Amino acid sequence: MRLLVSLLLLLLVRSAEPRRGQRSRAADKSPAGRVRGRRQFDITARQTQECKEYVEAGEKYLDCQDRQLTSVMQDWPKDIHHLLLASNKIQVLRDNMFSQFTQLKSLDLQQNDISLVEEGAFSGLSQLTTLLLQHNRLKTATEEILLPLPRLAYLRLYDNPWSCHCLLDSLVRLLQVPSNRNLGNYAKCAGPSSLRGQKLKQVNVDSLCDAGKPEKERPKPPPVKEKQQSMCHTYMFPKPLLDCSNKGLSRIPADLPSDIVRMNLSNNSIKHLRPKQFLLSKDLKLLNLSSNSLHHIDTAAFAGLLYLRELDLSNNDLHYFHYGVLEDLYFLRKLSLGGNPWMCDYNIHYLIYWLKHHPGVSYTGLICDEPQEFKGWRVEDYVKTYNGECPKDKQTEGTDTGQGGQGGSDNEVMGTDGEVSGQGANLPRPIQEKPNTFEIIRLS
Ligand SMILES: *[C@@H]1O[C@H](CO)[C@@H](O)[C@H](O)[C@H]1NC(C)=O
Ligand SMILES: *[C@@H]1O[C@H](CO)[C@@H](O)[C@H](O)[C@H]1NC(C)=O
Ligand SMILES: *[C@@H]1O[C@H](CO)[C@@H](O)[C@H](O)[C@H]1NC(C)=O
Repeated sequence: MRLLVSLLLLLLVRSAEPRRGQRSRAADKSPAGRVRGRRQFDITARQTQECKEYVEAGEKYLDCQDRQLTSVMQDWPKDIHHLLLASNKIQVLRDNMFSQFTQLKSLDLQQNDISLVEEGAFSGLSQLTTLLLQHNRLKTATEEILLPLPRLAYLRLYDNPWSCHCLLDSLVRLLQVPSNRNLGNYAKCAGPSSLRGQKLKQVNVDSLCDAGKPEKERPKPPPVKEKQQSMCHTYMFPKPLLDCSNKGLSRIPADLPSDIVRMNLSNNSIKHLRPKQFLLSKDLKLLNLSSNSLHHIDTAAFAGLLYLRELDLSNNDLHYFHYGVLEDLYFLRKLSLGGNPWMCDYNIHYLIYWLKHHPGVSYTGLICDEPQEFKGWRVEDYVKTYNGECPKDKQTEGTDTGQGGQGGSDNEVMGTDGEVSGQGANLPRPIQEKPNTFEIIRLS
């Protein structure tokens, strides 16, 4: 296997060489030109080297993110599938700027200074499916820019100061076609004031050309909701990641995009996870909430995260999980719990109980912090001694069926077999929940 990989690498290096050869030969026109050519070659080579070229799942990526670029370079390989140009200094997308990259499937131009897209900027990109233009300075654009892109399925335009006037009319109409459901989501008008805050997807198209009318004829602008999400950076490749780390967030941003696979909310000041805040992020596989101040997680906080595989809750202020909090996480594989002041009392039993019943979950960092007598113990060990310490109690509980705090299913097990009954009695019950002691209070 390793041999195969090195062979492949060798082949890649070899196939990259002729390209360089051609360049330096072209520059070698005269003996005097040789020196200059050589130097030029060194410069361009360095610029290409700064971009990272790699292959993943058979597709070629050129990663030129965050490199102060103002345009694309002529010597970049032309057979790439994914071009990552986020966080550069591009201001204008010129006609035919990308037309040499005929295989391109995705083009990431977010977080540049783009204020103008010429009509032919994307010509030649007949394979392009994903175009990211969020976090730029676009005020207007027409439908024409998208016409060379028959396969476009994802288009991000949010966090641009869209000016919702007549000029934007054709683009807005295109975005509002129902089958274009992933084009231009979340993008909003920045002006005129009558339309500020309205989504391009929803704005009344006929009002665009009315927007120049005198102030009193126009409807009142809706209140602008603060967008926290736009502070976050979305990386589409290799997997869609929403990076909201280090943003000083005190709550989960509203308006989270729904197609995100990894979400990084680490190093903020989130204290409380409320129910159903991730309900729309149903594709999420990794959620990083480490280094917040999480103290309280409501039941149903993780509702909808059916496919979540990795959850990082390390370095927070968690003492235990409320009963039921983990029940939505069917496919969880990794749970990071270190750096929390786990409280080794009866409330922690739910977590251990859940882990026992989900043996596929590997977890780290489950160490008692309180009370003092158990500080530094593994929580599992604490729960074992808790259950082991009182064999007599266990015996009593085992025979004492039908009484007090035992739930119905446990009682059934105990009725059939004494051995199993002991284990049944080990199943922890949360303190707050007393399934058999309902009380009906009639208010008069
Ligand atoms: C999230 O952000 C932190 C801090 O910026 C970083 O260390 C971590 O690698 C990021 N990625 C994921 C997937 O959590
Ligand atoms: C989550 O972010 C932290 C940085 O705050 C990082 O150290 C950690 O590796 C990340 N966890 C995962 C699972 O990526
Ligand atoms: C977390 O944020 C603080 C400031 O808010 C910063 O100093 C620190 O470097 C960040 N840690 C990581 C891992 O990014």
